[in-house]
Amino acid sequence: MGTAVSVTPSARSRTPAGDPRIAPRVPAQFPAGWRLPAGERATFAKNAMAVSNSPLASEAATDILKRGGNAVDAAVALGFALAVTWPEAGNIGGGGYMVITLADGRTAAMDYREIAPLAATRDMYLDADGKLTDKSIVGHLASGVPGAVAGMARALERYGTMTLSDVMQPAIRLAREGFVVDSGLASSIRGTDRVPQFEGARVFFPNGQPLPAGARLVQPELARTLQAIADQGPAGFYRGWVADSLVAEMQRGGGIITTQDLAQYSPRERRPIRSTYRGFTLLAMPPSSSGGVTMTESLNILETWPSLGAHGSTQWYHAVASAYQRAFIDRNSKLGDPEFVPVPMDQLTSKAYARSLRATINDARATPTRDVDATMQALPREPMNTTHYSVVDQFGNAVATTTTLNGSWGSGVWVRGAGFFLNNEMDDFAAQPGMPNMFGLVQGEQNAIQPGKRMLSAMSPTIVLDSSQQVLLVAGAAGGPTIITGTSQVILNVLDHRMNLADAMRAPRLHHQALPDSLTIEIGGVAPAVQDSLRAMGWSLRPVRSLVNVNAIMRVKGGWEGVPEPRRSGGAVGH
Ligand code: DON
Repeated sequence: MGTAVSVTPSARSRTPAGDPRIAPRVPAQFPAGWRLPAGERATFAKNAMAVSNSPLASEAATDILKRGGNAVDAAVALGFALAVTWPEAGNIGGGGYMVITLADGRTAAMDYREIAPLAATRDMYLDADGKLTDKSIVGHLASGVPGAVAGMARALERYGTMTLSDVMQPAIRLAREGFVVDSGLASSIRGTDRVPQFEGARVFFPNGQPLPAGARLVQPELARTLQAIADQGPAGFYRGWVADSLVAEMQRGGGIITTQDLAQYSPRERRPIRSTYRGFTLLAMPPSSSGGVTMTESLNILETWPSLGAHGSTQWYHAVASAYQRAFIDRNSKLGDPEFVPVPMDQLTSKAYARSLRATINDARATPTRDVDATMQALPREPMNTTHYSVVDQFGNAVATTTTLNGSWGSGVWVRGAGFFLNNEMDDFAAQPGMPNMFGLVQGEQNAIQPGKRMLSAMSPTIVLDSSQQVLLVAGAAGGPTIITGTSQVILNVLDHRMNLADAMRAPRLHHQALPDSLTIEIGGVAPAVQDSLRAMGWSLRPVRSLVNVNAIMRVKGGWEGVPEPRRSGGAVGH
């Protein structure tokens, strides 16, 4: 069997008919003129599949799968490769989450979120007048202590079958020998005004000009760092010359991460949230991410309706947006790092609580979250980036991983000598409780800054199991709070509307995060009559060009379908 590769948006391959255990798929109907029409084909592979925002990184994973590695081996290979080929978000200077299900029944949720440095303080981003500065977003003070290397290494050690050195070879080669910049990466480099402010400009803006598509990107410093990790394990990053380079970089720019912060970093292995939706099982990420709780709470509310109505109907938008609005009210006020604050997990994920929230929804009217300060609505939005990848293997194992630097290219700070970007994850804390962060999220005391604490995330790597507990769907996304809503809509599209994966990914999306109190929709994605009736019900519509960057895999008859985000670039590669 050869390799099945799809690079969005051009390549297509054949899709077989549905698996008898999976309800037959129903062709999707989208509004006339929607820019991602239904009926496209997904990439099919018989044995195994990897889907990410970088075709080269997906290939790295598939090489490992072909060599007999399992999904965890391949996911870790993919994660390190993304740090080379998708450096705006793929990273070793950030953190992430990995949800794992193994054919032997074990499940795991690896939390390698960054933590606040020991010298962090609650008000560190306020100026002398008590006003929020942009220091949680740009520059040396914006970074949490990176968790990616420790987390990926721990996942591999616990659930992989190959050595770290083996799975890192593709990444090391890509960094050392270089690769050809594609249009997706070139446009991301062109679009950043942050990288040129720091030392990474030398690599990504040689002679002051952004690297264009077709240029070769060689990253010798990064190759050396990756080699140190391959040789020494996490100690190659958290101690020794790489750690010293990071701390020296901090000291040059007024950052506060110390060698002690790095030496103390430890990932957390947690139990996935296991919930159900109409007979399917969901394995989702628990706090420190809000993803699993918020998605579970939303889906539990939605399950109280026997049917949500046709996809894209007024009834459907009203129900889905009302559920998200309520789940985000809880998310924004009740969730935080469970090692620092009490989190009412049982309540928020219970079916009974969802029924009581359902009772607050008026089927004919939107309910205002509260009067929204105009300044929140007017918040500038900047480019942002995270990246999700999904992997399944021939043995029945699956991995969903989301990783991020937070904003696109993180804080912009590039560690001299070690060749990688640092995150600006500190902005995910409520830097000033009650005031919106870069995603407009208005969060409370639960998520205030404390040394050693993990900032609340929205990342939602998720695995859906069918009624025989086999992997049906592996999904997750980039896009700040829209991660939760976008991922859950792909799940709803597959489970409720029985769309095939390509349609489920192309379907118009919506978002609601409680505050700002607006229903975000995709331009061209909502029929004009539905927009009119939603407005008449009291919804304030906020049209945007594009919502969320999802990468997903679904089981079909005889194999797997993989679909990278049709709104961005990416690659599905299988064998
Ligand atoms: O953890 C979070 O929720 C955010 N740092 C994610 C940022 C993100 O998705 C930006 N990307 N597109």
